[in-house]
Amino acid sequence: MKNNTIKLAILGSGNGTNAQQISEYFANSSDVEVACIIYNKRDAYIAERARNLGIEARYFGRKDFYENGAVMRYLAEKQVDWVILAGFLWLVPPEMLAAYPNRIINIHPALLPAYGGKGMYGHHVHEAVVANHEKESGITIHIVDQHYDRGTTLFQARCTVEPGDTADDLAAKIHLLEKEHFPRVIDETIHAR
Ligand code: GAR
Repeated sequence: MKNNTIKLAILGSGNGTNAQQISEYFANSSDVEVACIIYNKRDAYIAERARNLGIEARYFGRKDFYENGAVMRYLAEKQVDWVILAGFLWLVPPEMLAAYPNRIINIHPALLPAYGGKGMYGHHVHEAVVANHEKESGITIHIVDQHYDRGTTLFQARCTVEPGDTADDLAAKIHLLEKEHFPRVIDETIHAR
């Protein structure tokens, strides 16, 4: 790897489909590398995906994120340039925001500011959108700040919610949008700075 390689850390808590798509997108990149995948739920399937992808994955708990600096030491050791949140469900600690100013990117499965904030994640979002009979939903890719789901928007894409769509139907549409856009928007964002 060249010295000017842009190194990404992906943080996730669950299934890891976005982490896999991002990793596959950059697998043959000449200047971007997924240096590691960090997860905060011991049994998260994202760890299995990382193993299959041949990417180093490490579990960190709450103390490692918020008290003892272990995650920050690991990011430094891996020489990470950008942090990508892909289904990561905790608030980003202040130390990480300070070390990566405007260099942390999140994806949210709704059209923020609608259906954002604490507790609004994954399937909860889709259930709320369907329960409210919304006619459309979508994805928001944004820069992370100290609040849940509030940083500068980089990109949004929309999909229709048809009468009769279940939360699962909507989740499938959202996952397609995530697959189509998230890796590309990361690519453009990290090369624009
Ligand atoms: C994705 O749909 C992502 O947008 C959402 O969690 C899912 C993770 O799926 N993120 C949030 O809700 C953040 N508030 P994945 O683990 O299969 O990528």
